[in-house]
Amino acid sequence: MKSSVLLAVISALSSTALASCDTPPRVSLYSPGSSHAGAVGAAYFMTNEPTGNYLVSATIGSDGKLALYEAVYTEGNGAHGLPAPPGLDALFSQGSVGVSSSQKFVANVNAGSNTVSVFGIDESNPGYLTLIGKPVSSGGEFPNSLTINNAGNRVCVVNGGKINGVSCYTFNAKEGLTPIKNSVRSLGLNQTTPATGPPNTPSQIIFSPDEKQLIVSVKAGFLAVWDIDSDGSLSSNFSTVDGGVLPFSLIFVPGQNALVASDPGVGYDVFDLAATTRSKAAVSTVIPNQKAACWSAYSKESGDFYIIDVGGSVLTEVHVSSSLNSTIVKQYSLGTDGPIDSEVATVGKKDFMYTLAANATGLTVVSVNGPGKAEVYQRVDIAGPAKTANLPINSTSLQGLATFICQ
Ligand SMILES: *[C@@H]1O[C@H](CO)[C@@H](O)[C@H](O)[C@H]1NC(C)=O
Ligand SMILES: *[C@@H]1O[C@H](CO)[C@@H](O)[C@H](O)[C@H]1NC(C)=O
Ligand SMILES: *[C@@H]1O[C@H](CO)[C@@H](O)[C@H](O)[C@H]1NC(C)=O
Ligand SMILES: *[C@@H]1O[C@H](CO)[C@@H](O)[C@H](O)[C@H]1NC(C)=O
Ligand SMILES: *[C@@H]1O[C@H](CO)[C@@H](O)[C@H](O)[C@H]1NC(C)=O
Repeated sequence: MKSSVLLAVISALSSTALASCDTPPRVSLYSPGSSHAGAVGAAYFMTNEPTGNYLVSATIGSDGKLALYEAVYTEGNGAHGLPAPPGLDALFSQGSVGVSSSQKFVANVNAGSNTVSVFGIDESNPGYLTLIGKPVSSGGEFPNSLTINNAGNRVCVVNGGKINGVSCYTFNAKEGLTPIKNSVRSLGLNQTTPATGPPNTPSQIIFSPDEKQLIVSVKAGFLAVWDIDSDGSLSSNFSTVDGGVLPFSLIFVPGQNALVASDPGVGYDVFDLAATTRSKAAVSTVIPNQKAACWSAYSKESGDFYIIDVGGSVLTEVHVSSSLNSTIVKQYSLGTDGPIDSEVATVGKKDFMYTLAANATGLTVVSVNGPGKAEVYQRVDIAGPAKTANLPINSTSLQGLATFICQ
């Protein structure tokens, strides 16, 4: 008995020691003269490095501007999908990092370790994250997207590797994530670990607004939909909604049982989940000169969606009417940003889009300013501060973007 306790203590000590030598738990990214004192929120993304995945925070000031804060070790590894050489879409996904505003935590996938980590947010300093518990198994391989319910007590993740499918957890602030019984479900994709894509990989997982269904977009022209029981368990099989070519990011149209999906095979798709004939549920729209329209964000201030094209460094603003007809409002060039994961947050009364500018190894803040009036507001370099701080980082690995605004 005594010796087993001693062994446990020794192994706990040695893993702590390992973590603190090879991979420091925290790396400061403060730039001289930056102020975090008046932060009203933060944006989070991950380095997704195979040698050790860090979650990076940047505080959001009352003017909506970002200031890099620090990187915290997730106790997991990142990964990059196949084939090589890697592009700017390591995980072929949107939603690899998520935030719960209600329970004040950040969750991220560790695609190279098949785990999910959760961190508590300190509201008095939203750049400061504290790992809760230990990373938990993702229930499959190459987890690439996650979703959190409104109450912040449930998290579901999708895996895109050889063992692919979904898996759900309860969240509480003391223990972190606990697997929910009968929630590990297969997608049945013929895949590899790491996943080979982008085609034939899952892209994003989200709850329906009533949280009675779990939806995953798959870049094989369909959405997979599971029914969720009151105890959080999932139907054994999923139903499919066919449509699009390579449906990628998913965002519900406010007030509608319909989704907008970015789609690098065409531009974007509108899925009408209330359509009586499931095969007629999707309408795809071509974005002219589209190269890789993989990500998206929605702004309440403009009432529009922003489809994000990494290949052309272009934002396409799209309006979707209550009858689900859509129009392209305007297109914006983001120079050579190579924008990927993005999220809109409201600071004061203004909406800002926080974008991971992967190709520039930076972050770009876009001020929404109402419909058709978006403009680049701030550019933040990540490469320089990371180099100074000795934090391994690579533009082809960076993934995820989620924001938290203090209440
Ligand atoms: C799975 O994919 C591999 C590689 O493309 C292929 O060789 C194999 O036949 C596929 N298996 C099935 C069951 O479709
Ligand atoms: C799920 O799918 C399998 C294989 O297609 C089928 O045998 C089974 O009856 C289905 N289960 C339910 C509950 O629909
Ligand atoms: C929406 O599009 C359909 C056909 O594409 C058209 O019949 C209908 O009038 C449009 N509705 C609106 C409100 O534009
Ligand atoms: C990525 O950056 C390089 C170097 O600045 C530039 O030549 C290239 O056009 C950029 N790509 C995109 C899609 O903006
Ligand atoms: C980033 O990753 C690519 C692809 O693995 C590699 O070729 C390149 O050398 C890396 N760059 C740095 C600065 O490590």
